[in-house]
Amino acid sequence: MDSFVFADDANEQDRRECLKTIQSYRDKTLGIQKGTEVYNETSAGYDKVMSTAKYKGPEELVRVMEDLFPNNRDQVKVLDAASGTGLCGVAMFQAGFTNLDAVDASAGMLAEAKKKNVYQRLICEYLGENKLGIKDRIYDAVTMSGETTSGELGENLVPSSAFQELASIIKPGGVLVNVTRKENSGNVPDEEGKWKLESKKTIPAYLFDKEGVVLTYRIV
Ligand SMILES: C[S@@+](CC[C@H](N)C(=O)[O-])C[C@H]1O[C@@H](n2cnc3c(N)ncnc32)[C@H](O)[C@@H]1O
Repeated sequence: MDSFVFADDANEQDRRECLKTIQSYRDKTLGIQKGTEVYNETSAGYDKVMSTAKYKGPEELVRVMEDLFPNNRDQVKVLDAASGTGLCGVAMFQAGFTNLDAVDASAGMLAEAKKKNVYQRLICEYLGENKLGIKDRIYDAVTMSGETTSGELGENLVPSSAFQELASIIKPGGVLVNVTRKENSGNVPDEEGKWKLESKKTIPAYLFDKEGVVLTYRIV
């Protein structure tokens, strides 16, 4: 039986709601359309659910981004992929990354993200399925955190094929930073020589105090 560690201030109802919601995000039988509906339906309560689950993805992502970009962070153009309600956007903005765009498949999650006022462009699109319509290599970094996928797993609906397109809109020498659960931390295979795994950092408490990883890929 899996054990879950919740935030100290979470009451019984918060805990129940949190588990129910996160389990619905992990239901691999839903497929991309139904999965997005689940995110739409739960978007208003998402931030509280993640706080109850002691979600540390945004702060761990920012730690790595700060090391990668020590200076002039306002000039670093970042796409927050599968941005959700913008928790990572807020954390990055506070660290000086003010040139931020967001993409997510869920209009409900993006509507919550918009309220945070940290993104310049909000793109509602399915990564891996539809094209973003961005032709040029304009981003210095693409970030991804949450239960978002890595490797072949495709959990949470971002297929590894999405990495191909994301890599194609990052400038040569730029980075793709993916924060995820340890169980999902398979390296995304580089079939066309477009990126290299630069680092893999283990984080002791990512969600429910369980381990996670931050994978940094350098775009060739
Ligand atoms: C668990 S949330 C993580 C959100 C945010 N990155 C965070 O750290 O809080 C996962 C998000 O990925 C989005 N998502 C899942 N599959 C997607 C896909 N194929 N394309 C775009 N967004 C996707 C969902 O709509 C949801 O907002």
